[in-house]
Formats: sequence, structure tokens, C-alpha cells
Amino acid sequence: MNKNLLIYAIAAVAATGGLLFGYDTGVINVALPSLKVKFHLENSPDVVGWIVSAVLAGGMVGPFISGPLTDLLGRKKINIIAAIIFVIGSALTAIAPTVAFLIVGRLCLGLAIGIVASTVPLYIAEIAPSNKRGQLVTFFQFAITLGILLSYVVGYALGDDPDGWRSMFWAGFVPAAVLLVGMFFVPESPRWLISKGRDAEALAVLQRLREPQQAQEELNQTKYLIENEGQEKGNWGEFFSKRLRIPLFIGVGIFFIQQFSGINAIIYYSTDIFKTTFDSTKTAALATVGVGAVNALSTMVAIFFLDRLGRKPLLYTGLIGTALSLATVGLGFLFRDSLGPEMQKIMLIGGVYTYIFFFAISLGPLGWLLISEVYPLKIRGFASSMGSFNHWFFDFWVAFTFPLMQASALGSNGGIFFVYMSVVLGGLLFAKYIVFETKGLTLEQIEARWEKSNDK
Ligand code: BGC
Repeated sequence: MNKNLLIYAIAAVAATGGLLFGYDTGVINVALPSLKVKFHLENSPDVVGWIVSAVLAGGMVGPFISGPLTDLLGRKKINIIAAIIFVIGSALTAIAPTVAFLIVGRLCLGLAIGIVASTVPLYIAEIAPSNKRGQLVTFFQFAITLGILLSYVVGYALGDDPDGWRSMFWAGFVPAAVLLVGMFFVPESPRWLISKGRDAEALAVLQRLREPQQAQEELNQTKYLIENEGQEKGNWGEFFSKRLRIPLFIGVGIFFIQQFSGINAIIYYSTDIFKTTFDSTKTAALATVGVGAVNALSTMVAIFFLDRLGRKPLLYTGLIGTALSLATVGLGFLFRDSLGPEMQKIMLIGGVYTYIFFFAISLGPLGWLLISEVYPLKIRGFASSMGSFNHWFFDFWVAFTFPLMQASALGSNGGIFFVYMSVVLGGLLFAKYIVFETKGLTLEQIEARWEKSNDK
């Protein structure tokens, strides 16, 4: 097979993990109405809260499994383990006879999502040639958005069926099985093999993916870096060391801004938000499908531009665009009485859709891309797992606080959206002073930046 095609095929198989991420987080938005009827949850917001956030709680635990195991067992095996957990979780949720059973199934799914979220982008970054790394890692984000869209479409189609939620959960079983089978056929990451001293196997993989001379060069560069690494400090010691301060700030900062920009207030609760101005739930659900479609299509724009324009120009554009969009939605709520219902509807829909566009070309892909490329090889698996933990931790708080804020004055006067907007504006400082351009650099060139420091 042509080398380029092979790399795309490998990235696509691994990105199925992203599809599951998107599907299993998005599906709850559309499964909840029938779940509420089935389990009589109309007056039990706490139980509903648990059903929604079990995935996020599992997501927080997953990185603690993948953290030590990704560097120890390799990138392939850990994804196989995650795929098995996905298969089990999908089946458990689909057959759930009780709420407790359902919550356990959702916890399993979260665990698997928490694992793939840290290991898949990393795996793709390590097999990708540097000039295509942005694009290929963004396959993961694209798959997340496809998963979300798929869940909205399936939900829209099955929404009226009281047992529809079972089919919605079964549908997640299919990509889980694809990931499980597919992962057996992809090669192990050459960089991980080198880190374990398995040079001959690494070279064999590199020769399948690169031109012969480039394969040898990559092997040499990676070996050189490993041989020149500082004294052993262990994962945590390295992670918090002074020389890795910038990667640490990037891993925390990018997910703080990504999540507190309010993305999942929209991804999880858009139907509720739209219901504030649309009369029918069906129309609000259709508008939600629109959110999913804009999200997926706009991510394709990011795939095209990330390696051409670079990460920082997209980040600036995205931050300014999301801030303006959030302001539009907020102002629509704040002045709803003087604007009238039609104008407010336009500002809400227009603001949310443009917000999704700007998020999808910047904060969406960049979170996963940056954590896959800024850490040194020795702790890359561990560190990107910790990055993924930050994501789920912040995600949990946004998902948990949004309904509370919505029910308070901040909901009716649009204040929530101004809170999210302030975070995004703060993100401009983060983009200017912390993020550095990684376009076109090899992972080894990025790593060499950290080697220059004396504090090892
Ligand atoms: C984020 C998710 C979000 C999704 C939306 C991802 O990058 O990590 O939390 O739901 O983008 O497309």
C-alpha cells in the first residue's frame, strides 16, 4: 500500500476511539427523554445528574490507568484494553435493567473514553510525519465531532420511541468492535519501540511509513534524545520539573480554556437552550442536529489549515470568534424584551452556530493536538494522560454547574455566556505568552527545546 495511504488508514482506525468519545458523550443529550420515562426520573434531577456525569467521572479515572500503562505496555495494547472496556460498557448500558446498572455501564464507557482521549492522539502523533501531524491528529477531533453528530441524528430518528435509548446505546457497540479488531492490525508506535530499546522493530515500522533515508534519520534522532535525557526523576518528578513548566501550563491551560469556553454546555444541553426560544422540542432537537453538523464540517476546515497556517493563527482566530459569538448570545438574552422573540432567536442560533464554527477550528482540535506533541518522549504517555485528566475534570464542572447557573439569574440575563466569554478572552494571553508554534517541527525538535534548560 502507498505509504501515505497507509498512514491515513492507521490514523483512521485509531480515530475510531474519537468517534466513540463523541458518540458516548453526545448520546445522553438525546437519550435522556426516553430514559426519564422508562425509569420514572422526571422528578429526580440528582439521578439524572449521575447518569449524565458518570461518563465524565469515568473519564477522570481513565487517565490514571492509561498514564502508567501507555509508557509501560505500549500505545497499541492500551488502546486494545480501552476497546474491550468500550464493548463491555456499550452492552451494559444497552441492556440495563436498572438505573444503577446503567450508571455502571456509563462509568465503564467513561473509563474507556478517558483512556483513548490520552492515548489515541499520542499514538497518531507518533506515527505521523511532522508535516502532517496537525492534520492527522485532528482526525481524532473530527471523529469526536462525527460521533456527536451521529448520536444527535440517531437520537432525532429514535426520539419518539420509548425504548429508543436501548438502540441508541447498542449503536455505540459497532464502533467499539471496529476499534477492537482494527487495533490488532495497526503497528506499534516506532517512538515507543525505540524508547524500549527495540530498534530493529522500530526501524521496520518506520520503513513501512517513511522513505528509507527518512526512516533511518528519525530512528537516529529519537535515539539521540533518549540517550541524552537527564537523570531519572520518575513520571511525577519530570512532569513538575522546572524545564517542563511550559508544557505543564499548556496541558492545563488549553483544556481549562477549551472547557470553560462553555463548549459542553452546548454539546450536552443545546436542546434545553434552544427550547428557551423554540416552541417545539422537535424543532429544538433539529437545531441540535445542526450544531453537530456545523461542528463536524468546521473541523474539516481545521484539518486543512492547521499544518498550513500553523496552530497559533487558528488559536487567535478561534478565541476572538468564540468571544464575539458568546457576546452575541449573551446580549440576545440580556436584551430579549426590547429585541423581541424573533431577533433573539436569530442571535441565539447565529451566535451558537458561529461559536461552534470558531471552536471547531481552534480550541477543539488544539487541545488534543498540543498535549500529544509538547511533552518529551520519556513521559509523553503519562503527561498526555494527565492532560486528558484536566479535560475531564474541567468538563465535569462545566456540565455540573451549567444547569445550576441556567436556573439562576445568570441564565435569564445571559450572564453565563459572559462568564464563558471572559475565560476565552483570558485565553488570548495564554495564546500569546505560553503557546508556541509547533507547525512543521518534528517531535524531536520540540523535545530539544526542553533539553536546553539546565534543570533536568
Ligand atoms: C472536546 C469535547 C467537546 C468536543 C466538541 C472536544 O475537543 O474535548 O469536550 O465535546 O470537542 O466537538
